[in-house]
Amino acid sequence: MKLIGPFKQIVTLADLPLRGKLSDEQLQVITDGGIVVNDGKIQNIGNFEVLKSENQNIETETIEGEQIVFPGFVDAHTHICFGGNRANDFAMRNAGKTYLEIAESGGGIWSSVQHTRNASEEELLRTLLERIGFLVSLGITTIEIKSGYGLDVENELKMLRIIKKAQEQTKAKLVPTCLSAHLKPRDFEGSNTEYLNYILTEILPKVKEEGLARRVDIFIEKSAFQPEESKDFLLKTKDLGFDITVHADQFTPGSSRIAVEVGAKSADHLEATIDEDIEFLAQSDTVATALPGASLGLGEKFTPARKLLDAGAIVAIASDWNPGSAPMGNLITQASILATFEKLTTAEVLAGMTFRAAYALGLEDIGKLETGKKADFVTFKTDNFQNVLYNQGSLNAEHVYIDGTQIH
Ligand code: NIG
Ligand code: FE
Repeated sequence: MKLIGPFKQIVTLADLPLRGKLSDEQLQVITDGGIVVNDGKIQNIGNFEVLKSENQNIETETIEGEQIVFPGFVDAHTHICFGGNRANDFAMRNAGKTYLEIAESGGGIWSSVQHTRNASEEELLRTLLERIGFLVSLGITTIEIKSGYGLDVENELKMLRIIKKAQEQTKAKLVPTCLSAHLKPRDFEGSNTEYLNYILTEILPKVKEEGLARRVDIFIEKSAFQPEESKDFLLKTKDLGFDITVHADQFTPGSSRIAVEVGAKSADHLEATIDEDIEFLAQSDTVATALPGASLGLGEKFTPARKLLDAGAIVAIASDWNPGSAPMGNLITQASILATFEKLTTAEVLAGMTFRAAYALGLEDIGKLETGKKADFVTFKTDNFQNVLYNQGSLNAEHVYIDGTQIH
């Protein structure tokens, strides 16, 4: 058991509701606070001096200077296991080329598939760990990571096994997701339905057997998988015992409705979601995950986070870090920018990167700083928590704690 502090401010996010809009007055801020950690969990949280007098015999980890604390951030949507890069796609898009022209000239998801298939396991693991290190340095303690650049049994398993290996080498909490349904690979001989069936019969049983992922994702879009075949696939993956999540309404509306109908944990993207479907999402327990990094990478509009929150949806914010549409990877910068354009309160942004994102991943023991939760938190060297979003990602995290241990 140990007492960590004092902290100028601790923003606990305790007591905030899971869904809907939030005002900053609802934020619980403990001034001159401390955290008592026992066995990786928060035993007590409150005023540092009071905690100190109540716990006279325990070790104190003293914090120098003024620091503020948030729960560790959760990035609930990334594709950070990949080979190669797509800087040329980015340059061509900015020079006015269309998605199709880029794909035809050797870019797009398929090019990342080829680079990932050709990369050695050592190289993939090394670059994955580097990206995890970057996210941790931002204060992110839990990271969802998708497969989806392998697209056959051998390479999808290769990706998921590398994510599992990475978990052995980092204290960050990794949540793997099987995205074999990212795209029908060019070398698959058969229809979309046949490929989805191949995932169900050849890939997912092995994923399950080896315990490589408990979540399955699909990209429903004109250029990827169509609504009806996707719905059928998702219901079958659910029968196999997987949690499901969907890349929905990125360019074409309609698929968030499917995500809700099949009981997906989250529907991510939603840049093109129509008002009627915003209402539908808001009535459900499916988390609406905004991915501002994709909007910034592609020059597309932002997810209508304001409308979703006003309608009562559970809104998370994630980076979508991937080599194509979202190469930046800085969730804090992206969330700050989303807040400016969508008019989100600080409380809404913080909730979207913590307990609401954790809910999308099915994790209930993180995301808020209160007794019983894991002691995962991030500190910033500043005297006011508002400075973090105000600096739009340029204020670096000072320390990162996971399960009560300082790892950064
Ligand atoms: O979330 N939309 C589909 N998948 C990714 C992009 C992946 C890629 O371009 O490599 C996304 O934006
Ligand atoms: Fe994505």
